[in-house]
Order: sequence, then C-alpha cells, then structure tokens
Amino acid sequence: MVKILFVCLGNICRSPMAEAIFRKKVKDQGLDKIVTIDSAGTGRWHIGNPPHEGTIEILKQNQIDASGLKARQVSEDDLQSFDYVIGMDTENVGNLRALAGHHGKAEVARLLDFIPNYQLADVPDPYFTGNFEEVFDLISDGCDHLLSYIREKEQI
Ligand code: 4NP
Repeated sequence: MVKILFVCLGNICRSPMAEAIFRKKVKDQGLDKIVTIDSAGTGRWHIGNPPHEGTIEILKQNQIDASGLKARQVSEDDLQSFDYVIGMDTENVGNLRALAGHHGKAEVARLLDFIPNYQLADVPDPYFTGNFEEVFDLISDGCDHLLSYIREKEQI
C-alpha cells in the first residue's frame, strides 16, 4: 500500500477537500486497492467535526463524495506510518517537519510544489477568504501532479 496524508490547519476546509478529490482521482485511475488516503489538521479545534459547509458544497457541485470525512489532529506516528504527508501551506509543512524530528519516514512537501513553474506556493485558506471555488481548482490541479509524481516514484 502507498499511504498519503493531506494536512492543513483545521482539517475542515482544505485537507478534507484534498482527501476527497485525490480519492476520486485514485479511483478513476483504478488505483484504489493500492493507495490509501487520509487527512488531518495541525490544530485541535475541530476534532470530530465534519468538513466546513463550503467544502461539502463545492465537492457536491463537482460530484465528489464527501461522506465519512471527520476532523482529527496529526500525530507524530503519522509521520512514520504514511509515505507522503502533504501540507497545504508553508506553515503546515513547518509544523510537520518539527513534529517529524529526525525520525519521520514520510516524504513531507507542499501540495503546490508538485505543479512545475507555479507562481503560488500556498493554498489560500478559505476559512478566512471564503473562496472555496479557487481552492478547489488549486487543489485539483495539485492533486493531478501529485498523483503523477507518486505513480512514477512508486512504479504503480
Ligand atoms: P483549514 O481552514 O486549515 O483549511 O481547515 C481552517 C479551519 C479552521 C480554522 C483555521 C483554518 N480555525 O482557526 O478554526
């Protein structure tokens, strides 16, 4: 199995959106038996909560299943048990690297770093901007490139 974890701050807007979008792309490419996907937040405010209504709505508009998503906080163990831990912004990745210390096995990176020659490094937080459409497009584009990268690297 190849295990991928998406991480943002609250785990209610961006990373559950990435989890749902990536799961659909993985399924569409027939890889759902060998790739597992999850998401988590660096913060603990929303543990146990479903995604933000803006995330649910934009996923619905794009015919992407949003069921079963429930916020949790990222742990040190996640940096050992996942192969790829993908942050939505620079702050997420800084927090993840601090959590991993020297022992983390996972490859830690920002989602938008997988898009070549891209002007943006961070997925803006729609919890503050309110722009879920923009974030959906960015995450979808990032997920396409991430999936290509993983397929090449894992030879799957
Ligand atoms: P997310 O957005 O990191 O994309 O899930 C946020 C959600 C909640 C908060 C911050 C960001 N918050 O401060 O509660």
